[in-house]
Formats: sequence, structure tokens, C-alpha cells
Amino acid sequence: MEQALQQLRQDAEARVAAARDAAALRQVEIEYLGRGDGKLTVLLAGLPGLPLEQRKSAGQLANEVKAAIITRLNERRATFGQAESDLDVTQPGIAPQVGHRHLVTQAIDEITAIFERIGFQRSRHSEVDWEHYAFAALNMPADHPARDEWETFFVDAEPHSKLGRRVLTPHTSNGQVREMEQRRLPIRMVNIGKCYRRQIDVSHVPMFYQFEGLVVDEGITMAHLVGTLDYFAKAFFGPDRKIRIRPYHFQFTEPSIEIDINCAVCGGRGQLADGKICRLCKQGWLELGGAGMVHPNVLKAGKVDPKKYSGFAFGWGVERCFLMKSGLQIPDIRMLYENDLRFLQQF
Ligand code: PHE
Repeated sequence: MEQALQQLRQDAEARVAAARDAAALRQVEIEYLGRGDGKLTVLLAGLPGLPLEQRKSAGQLANEVKAAIITRLNERRATFGQAESDLDVTQPGIAPQVGHRHLVTQAIDEITAIFERIGFQRSRHSEVDWEHYAFAALNMPADHPARDEWETFFVDAEPHSKLGRRVLTPHTSNGQVREMEQRRLPIRMVNIGKCYRRQIDVSHVPMFYQFEGLVVDEGITMAHLVGTLDYFAKAFFGPDRKIRIRPYHFQFTEPSIEIDINCAVCGGRGQLADGKICRLCKQGWLELGGAGMVHPNVLKAGKVDPKKYSGFAFGWGVERCFLMKSGLQIPDIRMLYENDLRFLQQF
């Protein structure tokens, strides 16, 4: 038995030395150490038939032989290198799933880049703020009925003695006075952040994004405002799209306007080629958002002298703008936040 073991060891070591690649080594390993009919295993099957003394010493030797063969196998395997030992380098790889940014994040980045090109800086202001910044500083004193237009969530927290209750910002306009308090003039900011309102339907979600532009400098006029918005609309929606402005009312701008964009589905005609009414816009135009010249009371709240400086502001919804891009036919704004990969992967 002992002789047979020594012989087996020699044979195995010679085979290991002669193996040319990892596959050949594996073959030797199976042939000698394989559980079922490996040569060592077969030889050891004869152990129980031996007298006790021999059985002991043969068992011990068998363990040594096995360990030696394994050591040789490992040494030789290491000389072939990792790639050859376990990998078939010619096999096609398994492509990992690559994700991408959410479409709303993509829209935010695009909006930021468009405004940066004309000298705006992105800023960030609180998404949970005091009533003061969300309303009072914007020319809406406590109990002013205009506050009702923003279906506001109030935070259940101790009110501030001067700044009022805490709110989830219902618009990004809280950033206006915060920006004036923080920065030196002139200001050219675009504040993009989350807003919250108590409403949900095909065109509203309770959490959404707005981008708020604010420019404050000497001699700023309505022409600067309209020029900026027209530039943005052409950059974001395409050079063939048009905007129009309508008089409107906000407490914090004077004069105030709303901006519409011609509908991409019907080309602004309100009718489709077959004469049917366009279901998306119904009359050729879609509402984009509000804007206006900053109200003197708002400048004063931000400690800016309205006799010397003037400014414009606008606040539009990110998701709403995204949905109005040409060629998208997304019927329900809530789809953006359902996190259905079949939808998200299309963008
Ligand atoms: N804050 C307004 C809204 O949420 C939009 C707006 C911003 C209007 C700035 C005028 C100026 O509807």
C-alpha cells in the first residue's frame, strides 16, 4: 500500500509538471483526487482491509500524499495566472445593467445649462421655510386671500415669533428675498427646487419642481424679461416654438404676466389636420408659468432700494415644461413619479 501511494504521488506530480494549461490541471486533479473514481480514492478503498498498524501508517501517508498533490496543483496553477486559470477569456462578457439619471434630473440639468449660458447662477434655497419667505416677504401679509392660491402644507412645529409658521415651500419664490438677503447686487439666479402643494390629478403632483429666475440690477425692464423667456423657450423647446404673454396678477410682481407656448401637437392651430380639435391644448396654446417685474415691496423686504434697482422674476414647473417638449405624448404627469422602469428607460 505504502509503495503504491508513493508511486501515485510521483505519477501525479509528473502529470502536474507536464500540464500545459488550467484545463489540463483540472483534468489531473479529477483523475487523482476525484471523489468517485479518483486514483487516490480508489486506492484508499482498500484501507479497511489492512491490519490495524498498517492501516494507521498508510492512512497518514495517504494524507501527506494528498496534501502534496494539492500543493503542487496550486503552485502550477498560479504560474498560469488568474485569467487562464478560471476564465475563458474568449467568452462574451455579461453586460452589467447601466442606469441613468431620472428624466426630471435630466430636465433640471438642461434648464441649468441653458441659463448658465446667459450668465445666471444656479442657487438653492430652503425647501422647508418660514411663512415669511413664502408669503409675507412676497407682499402677501398674514390672512391675505392670495395665499389660498397655494395649497400649502404647514409643518407641525413651533412657529417663529417673527417669521411665522413653517411650511413646505409651495413655490420657489421664497428664494427671491432669501437671495437678496444673501448676495450682493446684481443678482442673476435660477433657484431650482422642490415645491409642495395639496393637489393631485393628471396635471398636478403634490411634490414637484420649479425653477425660479430672479434678476435684480439697475435699469432692468420688461424687455429683458421677455427676451430671456423667449431665449429659454427656443433653447429648451426648439427654435420653431413661439411664446406669447398675457396680463395676469401676482402679489409679488407688478406688472405680472403669464407665458404660453404654442402647442407642439397641433402646431398652434388648435386643430389637427383632420379638422378635429387638438385634445392637448384645445386652442393652440399651452400655459407655461408666471412672471413679472419684481414688486417694490418685495425689493424692500430684501433690503434693496426700489428707487435705484429693478428686477424681474419668473417661476415655472420643471415637469410641466418637460411634458411640453416636442414629440412627447405623456398623458399624465403622475407617470413621471410612478418609477415604472418600462416608462423611465425610454428617456
Ligand atoms: N410663484 C409663482 C407660482 O408658483 C410663479 C411666479 C414666480 C410668478 C415669479 C411671478 C414671478 O405660481
